[in-house]
Amino acid sequence: MAHFPKPPEGSWTEHFGLDTGPMSYDDSISPEYFEVEREAVFGHSWLNVGRVEQAPAVGAFFIKPIDAVRSSVVIAADHSGEMRAWSYALHGRPAFLQHDTFDFENLESGLTPLQVDVWEGFVFVNFDQDNTKPLADFLGKFAAGMTGYPFDKLTHVYKFQSHVRSNWKLYIDAFAEFYHAPVLHAKQYVSDESVKLMSYGFEALHYDIDGPHGMVSSWGGMAPPKDPMMVKPTERVLRSGNFGPWDKPDISELATLPSGLNPTKHRSWGLDSYVFFPNFMIVVWEPGWYLTYHYWPTAYNEHIFEGTLYMAPPKTPSDRMRQEMAAVTFKEFGLQDCNTLEATQTMLETRTVSEFPLCDQEVLLRHLHTSARRFVEDVRSRSEETSFSAANQ
Ligand SMILES: [Fe+2]
Repeated sequence: MAHFPKPPEGSWTEHFGLDTGPMSYDDSISPEYFEVEREAVFGHSWLNVGRVEQAPAVGAFFIKPIDAVRSSVVIAADHSGEMRAWSYALHGRPAFLQHDTFDFENLESGLTPLQVDVWEGFVFVNFDQDNTKPLADFLGKFAAGMTGYPFDKLTHVYKFQSHVRSNWKLYIDAFAEFYHAPVLHAKQYVSDESVKLMSYGFEALHYDIDGPHGMVSSWGGMAPPKDPMMVKPTERVLRSGNFGPWDKPDISELATLPSGLNPTKHRSWGLDSYVFFPNFMIVVWEPGWYLTYHYWPTAYNEHIFEGTLYMAPPKTPSDRMRQEMAAVTFKEFGLQDCNTLEATQTMLETRTVSEFPLCDQEVLLRHLHTSARRFVEDVRSRSEETSFSAANQ
């Protein structure tokens, strides 16, 4: 019996026209497939490399290594405040890059200019010069529905990075469903609460898909909890926990959210989690902060994970402590989540089992793998066309 309404087709998976059969994970265990996939997916998509606050003035810049395309990217603001981007070989480093003596003309002569675009302060680059689809069109309705959220006011950053020995898609899979939470994260709650949550089980409020992107909307009532005894003493004292500091920051835009957030307008809404293809996630939390995740592949069975919390600049030491509490709790949750991934990768690579059943709450996992395969097939068919026409000349 469903806790929340499902689409008329009976499941989200069928509603989005996806197959309900068991899914192969061959796309996550092959070095040969990865070589094709990394170029097809990361060489042709808009990739988020950071935010405008990282290059706040003319002369400031930041660098993002992107192993999947064997390049590093330099991002800087030019004299008119527009973002500019260049790439260079991954293990090279232009000798003249010094923060105090930034020289655009000099820089441009030594590097390859890249397409760059900005949405709500998020800076994206695209290594495919022929992919002229505007960023806003690529990001689609999910980004449009979030436009106006005060991303520019939530600028206090807590960042974690880890080297994970699994395929990049497996960690997105782990964050693109929430039903694991009452089981995997049981010890994050006081024991009575954990038993209650496990018996209730988890079900999301809503899912949606737009092109290669997906989103899930969830309930969540822990900030503040209905009963303070539901959470641990440290959380009670600080008024903060995994759902963030309990007291919303004083930012007027948080009072009326953009129309795309909390799509079902449910009174128990807790968060919306967006997967922007290929490797960028945004999680907007009801208590007035947000998270981003990035997954940067370095091999078929390895990637760099980045988890970043964005909060309002703290006004008091207590604010700061509350944010630290949320950040360390996030880190603990993240460790619990990724702890399973290396075992999953090892298990998949044994090929003892080749197909896996996915439930309806794993609809975004199925969608991610399907979207990545489509990119690979698309690039393959384009290169076959090219070799076919070359052979016929
Ligand atoms: Fe989790």
